[in-house]
Amino acid sequence: MSKTLGVPTPDQATYMLRAASEDAGRTYKRQLLDLLDLRPGHTVLDVGCGPGTDLPALAERVGASGRVIGVDQDPAMLATARERTAAVDTVEIREADAHVLPVAPGTVDRAKIDRVLMHVRSPAEVLAQLHTATRTGALVGLVEPDWDTLAVDSEDLETSRAFTRYTTEKVVRHATVGRGLARLAVQAGFRIETTITNAPLFTDFEHGDHTLGLGRNMQQAIAEGHIDRTRGEAWFAGLARGPFYASFTLVTVVCSRP
Ligand SMILES: C[S@@+](CC[C@H](N)C(=O)[O-])C[C@H]1O[C@@H](n2cnc3c(N)ncnc32)[C@H](O)[C@@H]1O
Repeated sequence: MSKTLGVPTPDQATYMLRAASEDAGRTYKRQLLDLLDLRPGHTVLDVGCGPGTDLPALAERVGASGRVIGVDQDPAMLATARERTAAVDTVEIREADAHVLPVAPGTVDRAKIDRVLMHVRSPAEVLAQLHTATRTGALVGLVEPDWDTLAVDSEDLETSRAFTRYTTEKVVRHATVGRGLARLAVQAGFRIETTITNAPLFTDFEHGDHTLGLGRNMQQAIAEGHIDRTRGEAWFAGLARGPFYASFTLVTVVCSRP
């Protein structure tokens, strides 16, 4: 076997910044910022801002008269976000849980939440918080994957399917929230403006392994008895030999607050 299971734990902040700088990350993020129609003077909220990936771009679009508030619950992420935005006066970083947003009601013109709802306890409660935080006419951008659509090429298609099923059922809390974004947003009182999908493509094994947790999650699936060890290890070794192909659907919904 040229590659065996056992992936080291990644530095999450570095990984998120790297992922955002790659083609798939850049494309959907630029689309989202364009759809949000950010204007000078806007107050914009980035919920689950992570290492501050998008804060500089948001600050640039709202200008010196605008304000950017980045919220995350992870102090390590926020430390990186503070470092990255130290020179930008209009950016404020707040440590908080998305279920209790630290902003005054009706004060936000634009908000975004990018790959966060899949992790939170209650996506519906977070959307209700966003509804409270935003002004009438505000635009809110939601981006989430649909992990049920994860397609990994292998001669052993059954194990690829078992891996996807394990990811959706055991690894990610709300693995299919992407396809439900419009429904959830309407239930929270928003109006849907735009729905688009992107399909991030991975043709580099190391990148796919890191981002999709192929080795890490396969190892867990084997340890928990969901996938046979011999089969899982052979599957992973086959992926490492390449050529590698994996993709999934990423859903973007932009909604407005009536
Ligand atoms: C996949 S990262 C995305 C980061 C950023 N939105 C980006 O596009 O790079 C998910 C982020 O959501 C944050 N997060 C998860 N659950 C949260 C919660 N309940 N409240 C606040 N932040 C949360 C994590 O700490 C992490 O920084």
